[in-house]
Amino acid sequence: MNILVIGGAGYIGSHMVKQLGGMGCQVTTLDNLSNGHRDAVLHGKFVMGDLADSALLAEVLHAGRFDAVMHFASFIQVGESVEQPAKYYDNNVANTLHLLEAMRIANIKRFIFSSTAATFGVPQYTPIDETHPQNPINPYGRSKLMVEQMLEDFDRAYGLKSVCLRYFNAAGADPEGKLGERHSPETHLIPLVLQAASGKRSHISVFGRDYDTPDGTCIRDYVHVSDLCEAHWLGLQSLMHGAGSQHYNLGNGNGFSVQEVIDTAKWITGKPISVLDAPRRNGDPTHLVADATRAKQLLGWNPQYTDLRTIVTHSWKWEQCQVI
Ligand SMILES: NC(=O)c1ccc[n+]([C@@H]2O[C@H](COP(=O)([O-])OP(=O)(O)OC[C@H]3O[C@@H](n4cnc5c(N)ncnc54)[C@H](O)[C@@H]3O)[C@@H](O)[C@H]2O)c1
Repeated sequence: MNILVIGGAGYIGSHMVKQLGGMGCQVTTLDNLSNGHRDAVLHGKFVMGDLADSALLAEVLHAGRFDAVMHFASFIQVGESVEQPAKYYDNNVANTLHLLEAMRIANIKRFIFSSTAATFGVPQYTPIDETHPQNPINPYGRSKLMVEQMLEDFDRAYGLKSVCLRYFNAAGADPEGKLGERHSPETHLIPLVLQAASGKRSHISVFGRDYDTPDGTCIRDYVHVSDLCEAHWLGLQSLMHGAGSQHYNLGNGNGFSVQEVIDTAKWITGKPISVLDAPRRNGDPTHLVADATRAKQLLGWNPQYTDLRTIVTHSWKWEQCQVI
């Protein structure tokens, strides 16, 4: 198979490129390195370029004869999306529209999209399944929902078949230690906690200890990046076998509290982690946990790394390789 991975130099995309390479696929990564790293692309061809460059996109799509496109490229910070919504609608929505239009012209009919739990907004019940209403509460979540809606229209009008994968909290790192999370700035809990353990950060802030949870801190669903990549692979197989468009919630199914993550990190690293208590942040729900039954039943997804200790161990292995 011949796959184009947009955003393949980023955290999740780079793990996908490695996995596709390991499965014997031909892979081309297109990435502008706005947030990615050239040295994270461990397989295939790399094209340095921006989705907004329609001439480049047309050339890459025309020359590549791709069986499918996997689209990881977007801006990902919720807080920034509130302050700079135009930046998010431009990159996450308008650039994705350019991509879909270029795919239509190049007659590429299979697409796998990185969507998010943020499309659901404040949960009405938990765990969250695919029938839960989608009412995003920030521009980031809205930008992803808009793409989901565009994909429905592109299927109806042009026969583009897509798999939308709504990740909850992507976490962990390549079990072989070759890749990991390298966002700048980092906003995700596990790398932040591990940076505090390794002395790169003075402390970790805990936003709210008065939630209705056993230890008072928020509960989130951490899904291992390798398990996410496996779901992409299964989604790709299903499209290659002629399946129609699909969407899935991808999570571990087990929620872990912020305090549990900190305690696990202390245990795995054997290091002290300084914690500062801070007030609740606006828009942080108490629980955010996926019901991934549909992906398990229809795709045959069987996540391998559901244990928090394993997730943190893989991230710690990666964190220790990072120079200060
Ligand atoms: N990390 C998570 O927990 C999480 C959760 C839910 C959904 N997602 C989604 O998964 C996808 C990947 O997330 P990630 O954590 O790997 O992000 P990331 O920032 O590490 O990777 C995104 C990559 O896309 C590239 N990119 C961005 N805009 C581009 C453009 N216009 N042209 C070319 N390349 C561009 C960046 O350089 C980067 O390499 C994103 O779409 C994100 O919304 C991530």
